[in-house]
Amino acid sequence: MKIQSTATSPTVLISRQRLEERVAELAQEINRDYADTELLVCIGVLKGSVFFMVDLLKQVEVPVAVDFFQTSSYVGTSARGEVRIRKDLDLFIRDRDVLLVEDIVDTGYTLRTILDLLRFRGAKSVKLCALLDKIEAREVDVPIDYSGFQIGNVFVVGYGLDFDERYRNLPFIGALADDTAPGPESGNRQS
Ligand code: IMP
Ligand code: MG
Repeated sequence: MKIQSTATSPTVLISRQRLEERVAELAQEINRDYADTELLVCIGVLKGSVFFMVDLLKQVEVPVAVDFFQTSSYVGTSARGEVRIRKDLDLFIRDRDVLLVEDIVDTGYTLRTILDLLRFRGAKSVKLCALLDKIEAREVDVPIDYSGFQIGNVFVVGYGLDFDERYRNLPFIGALADDTAPGPESGNRQS
């Protein structure tokens, strides 16, 4: 993929410190809820969830296995909501407790598709942990069991989230200026 260069810097929406505090709280909730779990299969959606997942799992004290999906979706006219699996899991999840870890729930199509697939494959339990919940943008219902922050309908970058593959390494969540951010109908989207 060609990476374009743009010069605008995002403004801080959620600071590094607030991220650290909230991630620690989410890890405590997970530790409490899964205290008796023999093995928790934690599944991230590439690539956006990686920074969040690493920080979260370093504070999770129950035994975990780690795996990843990669998806792409096309936000356009006829294919709206159609999500493709570009990389499937390596692990089998039948009868396993599964925690899906995602950077952001926007329209909800990606998570809806993955949650349905995990249940179809016979996971014992499936819960969702999402750092950001863009609730006003939701088109399909996705219950979030562990939710970091609710944000407005703005395009955000940083802490794993990208715009055209840039900004993932920012240590905070930032908002792009309106004239820089992609519009709501922005074509092929990868996580
Ligand atoms: P969905 O619309 O809930 O299916 O979200 C699909 C994917 O779009 C997410 O996993 C993100 O990778 C990406 N995405 C949605 N909103 C944003 C945003 O504000 N910034 C960066 N990526 C986003
Ligand atoms: Mg992305």
